[in-house]
Amino acid sequence: MNKYIGVFDSGLGGLTNVKELHKILPGENIIYFGDTGRVPYGTRSDDIIIKYTLQDLRFLSSFPLKAIVVACGTVSSVALDKVKDKVNVPIIGVVEPTCKKAISITKNGKIGIIGTEGTIKSGSYKNKILKERADFEIFENACPLFVPLVENGYFNSEATKIIANDYLFLLKEKGVDTLILGCTHYPLLTDVIKDIMGDGVSLISPGVETAVYTKDLLEREGIINLANKQGETKYYVSDSTKKFSYLASMFLNEKITGTGEKINIEEW
Ligand code: DGL
Repeated sequence: MNKYIGVFDSGLGGLTNVKELHKILPGENIIYFGDTGRVPYGTRSDDIIIKYTLQDLRFLSSFPLKAIVVACGTVSSVALDKVKDKVNVPIIGVVEPTCKKAISITKNGKIGIIGTEGTIKSGSYKNKILKERADFEIFENACPLFVPLVENGYFNSEATKIIANDYLFLLKEKGVDTLILGCTHYPLLTDVIKDIMGDGVSLISPGVETAVYTKDLLEREGIINLANKQGETKYYVSDSTKKFSYLASMFLNEKITGTGEKINIEEW
């Protein structure tokens, strides 16, 4: 039996991680759960985020899994350390792989981090980087309006540019040469962010780094599926599946025709 990689997020933004997993681990089977009925997590209290995460994990664990990828920046930051003992497979969050990459590529030791309010408040990325490199300087900002802008398709609008400028100008002024896009949705704003930050700033996408990290882990554990055959991906959500194919196609950057299956996450 070829077990699944379970991937979950507060909503469909985590499909930016699935997109990267599809690229570098095409043979793997994936179960995706997006908690579309309770998104966003990023503005909620730690207790609620932990409670939701435990339910998400219980649902995913009803499938035969080989590993779990926490695609959500907020869950990885606020809940992962508190829940990782509750599952019996390797569980991978986005913070560690992303920080590793940032540390390895910065030249001036000035790293910017943007994420949801929950992520920035937790200090997850900052603490991880400073633990390894206390000499680095970290500059952070929460960008709460980016999530609704992306979900409504405002990738390149004037409104997005004005808001992004407001969120980013201080990080730019501080001279960061590396910027962590610490939220599932932000890679979709890469063009606008790049325009503001300039070519000299490297943007790091957690989905890309986490997929590479997941591949290494599966290889190390001897559980990677190298079959040539494309693996299957099953999608589950906790709210109406009506907007699923529109939003899923946007985050995956590929046409999705299915609707995904609706489950009642409160039952888990
Ligand atoms: N998936 C969340 C994250 O990466 C963004 C959306 C939310 O706030 O739930 O932090």
